[in-house]
This record gives sequence, structure tokens and C-alpha cells, in this order.
Amino acid sequence: MNAKNPSVSRTVMTEIVLPNDTNNLHNLFGGQLLSWMDRCAAIAAHRHCRRTVVTASVNNVSFNEAIPQGAIVTLESKVSRAFSTSMEVWVDVFMEDQRGSGKQTKCNEAIYTFVAVDDLGRPIPIPPIEPETEEEQRRYDGALRRRQLALILAGKMKPAEAHELRALFLPQEDAK
Ligand SMILES: CC(C)(COP(=O)(O)OP(=O)(O)OC[C@H]1O[C@@H](n2cnc3c(N)ncnc32)[C@H](O)[C@@H]1OP(=O)(O)O)[C@@H](O)C(=O)NCCC(=O)NCCS
Repeated sequence: MNAKNPSVSRTVMTEIVLPNDTNNLHNLFGGQLLSWMDRCAAIAAHRHCRRTVVTASVNNVSFNEAIPQGAIVTLESKVSRAFSTSMEVWVDVFMEDQRGSGKQTKCNEAIYTFVAVDDLGRPIPIPPIEPETEEEQRRYDGALRRRQLALILAGKMKPAEAHELRALFLPQEDAK
């Protein structure tokens, strides 16, 4: 399979926060944002492999800023790294300044793992990925450690096997 660039999977979705999407403080309800992010990430994962994809894990979600009712929210997702059948997808969330310049500020992000599956739900191979930009390369490099952490937490990998993750915490010679 030929390698693809992350830009092939780039997906942009824009939403407006309506009253039904909010919590008691009239800010966007976290579960609604999670749903939008999952959708946006799933489309990016599908665009990378052109197969049915399922969410395997959500590795990191940070709600850094509240998003008020009426806000226009843009979600941007891209595959950052492809493994054998699984891929990591980043979702960046931006809020648009409605009164002034319309400038977009980043307010949240999430990192998902999707797996490509056949018609019976069995994992199938996906194309490799070749990062192009500096940010794509940084996210690609970190994806291996995040995958190891996710698999350890899911009970699918022993900590002793996670060499790259251990190297973050231990002197190089002890991490081997
Ligand atoms: C995700 C799923 C396909 C994995 O199937 P599985 O039989 O456990 O398959 P494997 O153990 O062979 O793993 C397949 C790939 O998933 C990855 N994976 C499995 N669990 C993972 C987890 N918790 N976090 C990150 N990656 C995971 C594996 O690392 C492997 O990746 P690789 O092939 O690139 O190395 C299966 O668990 C599933 O269908 N889950 C339900 C998905 C779903 O319905 N999502 C929506 C939730 S509402």
C-alpha cells in the first residue's frame, strides 16, 4: 500500500452552539463536543484508509476553555500516524470571535485511535503515513508513546514492552 500524507485525511466541520447543546451555565455540554469530535475524527480516519472505521480509544481530551451558547465552533481533524490496522487522529477545536475580527482561537483538543475493519468487524491493514509539516512530524513522533500508554491502560501491553514510553521516565540504559 502506498503511503499517504496527513493532508489527505484533513476534515473540517463547523457547528453553532444552540440552547439544546448547553449545560446549566449556558456553555457547550462536554458530551456534545465529544460527539462532534468523534464524528470529525472518524471522517478523517475513513479518508486515510477508505474503509469502515471504529473508535478504539480516546487517549486524550482537554476542555481548556468553555464555549458559550451562540458560539461558532470549528473542528479540524487529521490522521497523525498509521500503524498496522489502527491510526491516531488529532482533533483541534477552535472558537470564532463573533463580535470583532472573527479570528479563531483554539479552545480544545482530543486524540482518538480508530481501527479499520472489514464487513465482519475484523481489523484490516491500512496505508502507512508520511508526515510533511513540522507539526505533523511532532505528532507522528509522539504517537508511538501515546499508543503504548493506551495499550497498557487497556491491558493489551506490558509496561516492560513499552520502550519508547519508558524512555521518557527512565535513564536510557534502564529503559531497554
Ligand atoms: C477496536 C477493535 C476493532 C479492536 O479489535 P481487537 O480484536 O481487540 O483487535 P486487536 O487486539 O488485534 O487490535 C487491533 C488494533 O487495534 C489497536 N487497539 C486495540 N485496542 C486499543 C486501545 N484500547 N487503544 C488503542 N489501540 C487499540 C491495536 O493496537 C491494534 O492496532 P495495530 O493493528 O495497528 O497494531 C474492537 O475492540 C472493537 O470492535 N471495539 C468496538 C469498537 C466500537 O464499537 N467503537 C465505538 C464505540 S461506541
